[in-house]
Formats: sequence, C-alpha cells, structure tokens
Amino acid sequence: MKLEKQYKIIEFVDLGDERGNLVVIEGDGTDIPFTIRRVFYIYGSDAKVMRGQHANRETEFLLVNVSGTSKVRVDNGRESLVIELNRPRMGLYLSPMVWKDMYDFSPDSVLLVLASRHYDGAEYIRDYQEYLTELEKMEGRAHE
Ligand code: TYD
Repeated sequence: MKLEKQYKIIEFVDLGDERGNLVVIEGDGTDIPFTIRRVFYIYGSDAKVMRGQHANRETEFLLVNVSGTSKVRVDNGRESLVIELNRPRMGLYLSPMVWKDMYDFSPDSVLLVLASRHYDGAEYIRDYQEYLTELEKMEGRAHE
C-alpha cells in the first residue's frame, strides 16, 4: 500500500475567540475517523530521545503536539517520510501497520495521542525485521 494512503495531516478548526484558542477533536468520523478509546500524552522527552519504534497491528492513532514540537518518521517498509508536528491545530492520523519513530522533542513538547483501541502490548510489533516479515505475509495473503 502507498504510504500517502496510510497517514493524513488534519487541520482542526479553532473555535477560539478573544478569550483564547479552543480546539475540539471529536471521534467517530466527525474530526477523526475512529472512536477514541484511549488518550495518552508524552512530555519531558528531550531532543536526543527516540520514542515509538513500533507498529501496531490494529490501532489507529491521532498525534497532536498541543505544546512545542516533535518529529515523527512514518515508514511502511517501502517508503518513509518525516513530519514535523509544530502547532496545536495540526493532527497526524496514522493507520494500523505503520512503523513510527518520534524524536527531536522540544523542551516544551507535549505530544497528545488519541488511540482507537485500549492498550494491548500484544498488538505492538517492536522489532523492525518482524514488522517487514508481517508485511510480506499480509501482502502474500492479499494476492492469494
Ligand atoms: P511505549 O510504547 O514504549 O511508549 P512510546 O510509544 O511513546 O515510545 O510505552 C512505554 C511503557 O508504557 C510500556 O511499558 C507500555 C506502557 N504503556 C501502557 O501501559 N499503555 C499505553 O497506552 C502506552 C502507550 C504505553
């Protein structure tokens, strides 16, 4: 599958006024395609840290740097791309089975992650060779 079909940059609407900004993310197809079942956020990771380094067999994600900036490298085994998350209205949607690395966190980075599933360590692939092997198997099945 083409990488361009496996991620999407979404610009959320700002409902703010003179009192400040307000950004809303509703699930179930309103602003993002999935039902939000889990929320977590990452902060205090400095510029030298590499996070992620995994793919998820099932989970869809939406990443927003609600404060500060970070970079995400997305990879589908054939193509890869670096996306900088650098504004609170910018969301990065990721399909399942996309390998992701998050890095280059600014000191004020707060990376908010919305997920379509509850945490299940068994659906994480944390070994890149295993990820490539699983992709090959999936593609083999798709051609049967
Ligand atoms: P990890 O997947 O390494 O974080 P990241 O993707 O940001 O690099 O998660 C760190 C630890 O936290 C690991 O032991 C699994 C646990 N964890 C949960 O229990 N629930 C969660 O939703 C997440 C994201 C992690």
